[in-house]
Amino acid sequence: MNLILLGPPGAGKGTQAKRLQDRHGIAQISTGDMLRAEVAGGTPIGREAKAVMEAGQLVSDDIIVRMLASRVGQPDCAKGFILDGFPRTVPQAQALDVMLEAKALRLHAVIELKVDDSALVDRIAGRFTCGSCGEGYHDSFKPTAKAGVCDACGGTTFTRRADDNRETVSARLAAYHSQTAPILPHYAAQGILHTVDGMADIDVVAGQIDAVLARVG
Ligand code: AP5
Repeated sequence: MNLILLGPPGAGKGTQAKRLQDRHGIAQISTGDMLRAEVAGGTPIGREAKAVMEAGQLVSDDIIVRMLASRVGQPDCAKGFILDGFPRTVPQAQALDVMLEAKALRLHAVIELKVDDSALVDRIAGRFTCGSCGEGYHDSFKPTAKAGVCDACGGTTFTRRADDNRETVSARLAAYHSQTAPILPHYAAQGILHTVDGMADIDVVAGQIDAVLARVG
């Protein structure tokens, strides 16, 4: 099954994509994670993307589309993929259509996580990740069971993202509304857009997504 999770920064795309990956064995493809790996590796793409990401702007379509095209052909996508953070512009959505057609693949559903802007800053400001296994947490909404110890792997080092500060979140939100939200009609016209209430608890959102997948699968 091939899915897109759409929503503003902090909507819960990564949280839900990881759950879908674990439950259904389909690959999570996060363009944000791919870019952060390029930045950490100091590659040419990473050097170009770093300042753009830290300013909360979008990296160029050209770089993103090339990165994604090679990723969807990898073996772990054989059972399907969940696109988390892509597409983010109308040209990216159009490039994805072409890419899927060339590979004789189709999208089963585009799931929009609808969240009030006012909730997003708190979500992002409280987010942290296990430095060993990448499991995501939140100071209030999803703390570790034992303080300072990862539930998933027992790791004791945690990281916070460079772009998770109040100023950058405002720029990321503005980019979402001006450049990403306009792709929603593209998928509504294809009859594959489904909107779920991203303000609900994490487990409730997961249940809403499963209900969509049961209808389209
Ligand atoms: P990216 O990494 O994609 O970040 P984002 O879209 O800003 O989304 P986030 O990862 O911040 O949030 P999320 O929706 O995954 O929420 P999460 O599940 O973590 O992109 C980063 C940057 O890379 C971009 O700004 C851009 O520069 C660049 N980039 C990436 N892709 C690009 C592209 N295609 N084109 C151009 N540039 C691109 O949840 C957030 C927190 O809330 C967590 O702590 C979580 O525990 C908590 N939470 C989740 N769900 C709930 C819930 N239901 N209730 C309460 N808390 C919840």
